Amino acid sequence: LNYTEPYRPQYHFSPAKNWMNDPNGLLYHNSTYHLFFQYNPAGIEWGNMSWGHATSRDLTHWDERPVALLARGYPENVTKMYFTGSAVADVNNTSGFGVEGKIPLVAMYTSSYPISQELPSGKYVRAEQQSQSIAYSLDEGETWTRYDAENPVIHNPPSPYAAEFENFRDPFVFWHGDTQKWISVTVLASLHKILIWSSDNLKEWSLASEFGPYNAVGGVWECPNMFELPIKGDPSAKKWVIVLGLNPGGPPGTVGSGTQYFIGDFKGTTFKPDSASIHPGNNSANWMDWGPDFYAATSYNGLPDGDVVQIAWMNNWQYGEVIPTSAWRSAMSVPCQLSLKKVEKEVILLQQPQQNWRRVVNLVNHQTFKHSWKSVPKGSTRLEPPGRAFNIDLSFSDHDYDDSLASTFAIAVRTSSDLKQEALIGYNFTSKEVFMDRRNSRDVSFDKTFASLYHGSLPSRADKPINLQIFVDWSSVEVLGGEGEVSLTAQIFPEGNSTEARLVSIDRVT
Ligand code: FRU
Repeated sequence: LNYTEPYRPQYHFSPAKNWMNDPNGLLYHNSTYHLFFQYNPAGIEWGNMSWGHATSRDLTHWDERPVALLARGYPENVTKMYFTGSAVADVNNTSGFGVEGKIPLVAMYTSSYPISQELPSGKYVRAEQQSQSIAYSLDEGETWTRYDAENPVIHNPPSPYAAEFENFRDPFVFWHGDTQKWISVTVLASLHKILIWSSDNLKEWSLASEFGPYNAVGGVWECPNMFELPIKGDPSAKKWVIVLGLNPGGPPGTVGSGTQYFIGDFKGTTFKPDSASIHPGNNSANWMDWGPDFYAATSYNGLPDGDVVQIAWMNNWQYGEVIPTSAWRSAMSVPCQLSLKKVEKEVILLQQPQQNWRRVVNLVNHQTFKHSWKSVPKGSTRLEPPGRAFNIDLSFSDHDYDDSLASTFAIAVRTSSDLKQEALIGYNFTSKEVFMDRRNSRDVSFDKTFASLYHGSLPSRADKPINLQIFVDWSSVEVLGGEGEVSLTAQIFPEGNSTEARLVSIDRVT
């Protein structure tokens, strides 16, 4: 693996070569984390959609494995592509796919058919149809057998939505312990609806309910993800969460794709959103991330109850196919541990880097610096150059709210020695927002919306410092604010020798 190309992520997963989009089939099984992903085996743009595969023991170091599910007919005559989906370990062998006591891993994905055809099961599909299919693996996800006898297992959208057969996709499947059933959620992308299905054996599915439209409804809804979490400080209280992609129609100030979530209750049939989680419109929706490059987030199956770890595609459909990297395109976000917290009447989602990340970043960086300042003068304070891949924990407070003091405190990273190029991450004490400014981050030329400033709100109190955790890699910046109630993820394409950093204390960023 050549990890020295310009912009090549040093500690985020990226495929050795070719195009990648959504994380798929995140599954922890036999002490191994599996990461499958939307993959084009033939180039650095979207196409020939197949499932790539990587494995890890610690969620930080990855081994890329052979392509797991290769588009049927590839390369000459692709007749079926493997779109986004999920995977489970069928420990009770409900599917009957297990032989000789081996636990089958079962993947549920969208079959996307470019042309009309009769399938091996005898079922007929139309051109551009999307249906849900399954495949299983008896060798730890290395090779897969399609369930050709019956695929697709969910052939058509339910009858009121029959016309939506081209926009019916992205099954996320999980085991629902209370009802002892498999549950799968799919989208009717253009109608901004989620369909909830249930099954005893992963093969036969019945429609349980539908959800939506709610909150942000720009573009299409894609890639639903669903899980249960305890509420911090009140472990007996649990809530269900739906996470959902929108494309286009992300958070205010972004262009392209984004990710929102809903908190509610689910007893095996319907997802009832909390009224406090309903905020119609784009401006007030519950955004998982307020930056431009966080999409198709999905969570691991196979972790203990209450343990939810998510990975997102660190790119955006607005410019994903033209970012200036080769011979690969796209990386995955830092895996984050999710939790819930009650703030007044509303339950909100918190994100923290999964625990192994403390260690990995020290390994990449090889050094740690610790600095503290009693006060930072207005203007710019140069720091010891941290390099190109590192993480920073920044904790600061505004002495008082005297107007003569600076209202904005930021750190600039990937700064060039002439200070002309950099990415700024900071906090505005007046608007109480975390922001990220990549307007001067160097290569912004490939898309006219790329050079932008992003922000997400983080309430502050005069007696408490603001905490920011910042992850910088060769072509990305992720920032988590507070306890993780706000996050901003953005790609940057700086010059390789832009390795400096500085503190910036100013009145405002305009
Ligand atoms: C989201 C998405 C999914 C689809 C996949 C195809 O990024 O559009 O809805 O399954 O990508 O690659």
